Amino acid sequence: MRLVLVGPPGAGKGTQAQFIASNLSIPKISTGDIFRANVSGGTELGKLAKEYMDRGDLVPDEVTIAMVRDRLSEDDARDGFLLDGFPRNVPQAEILKKMLAEFGVALDVVLELVVDEDEVVRRLAGRRTCGRCGRIWHVDFDDKKDDICDACGGSLYQRDDDKEETVRRRLEVYQEQTAPLVSFYAEEKILVGVDAAGPVEEVTRRAMEALAPHVG
Ligand code: AP5
Repeated sequence: MRLVLVGPPGAGKGTQAQFIASNLSIPKISTGDIFRANVSGGTELGKLAKEYMDRGDLVPDEVTIAMVRDRLSEDDARDGFLLDGFPRNVPQAEILKKMLAEFGVALDVVLELVVDEDEVVRRLAGRRTCGRCGRIWHVDFDDKKDDICDACGGSLYQRDDDKEETVRRRLEVYQEQTAPLVSFYAEEKILVGVDAAGPVEEVTRRAMEALAPHVG
């Protein structure tokens, strides 16, 4: 299965990606996670990406595309993958299509997580991420009273780009640059929409049901 998750910031892409990828036994490839790992590792890529991420803007296409090409060339992605956060605009989608064609494959499904803006703002305001295992939590919905990850005991942190003004900019960027992907993939006839409101397990159940006809 070659799958892309699309949806606004806070829709639950990272949350659902961890369960869907594990259910389908495919690697989860998140461009946001790769950039954040580079930021905390202090690499040149991290320094460059941080400038854009802190503003809520997209990292330039040439940088992101080269990084995705390298990751998709790794052995574990040969038989399938879940992409979270890429593509992020129509030019990235067109390049992904060409890149996969060079590998002799194509995307099977693009899963759109559909949720309204008030809900995504609520979700982002309470998000906490584990610095050790990367698991995503929410202070209210997961009733997190401490900053300790229940999965691995690591410390939880709040993302720098979850500040209110940055969230506002990320939502604008989503509407301007990423939302057009929905019609792009609808025209390619590989778009499947899932209602992403409600409890996490319920959304995973709906997503797996929507993906079932495409699982080989
Ligand atoms: P990225 O990391 O991709 O961020 P994003 O798309 O803004 O998405 P988020 O990670 O904020 O949200 P999510 O949908 O994953 O929600 P989550 O599951 O965490 O990108 C960050 C930055 O990197 C970009 O701004 C850009 O600068 C750069 N970048 C990345 N990719 C790029 C690309 N391709 N090109 C250029 N630049 C790129 O959930 C949010 C919260 O809600 C959590 O607390 C979670 O616990 C909670 N939650 C989830 N589901 C539910 C539910 N059903 N009920 C209640 N709570 C829930």
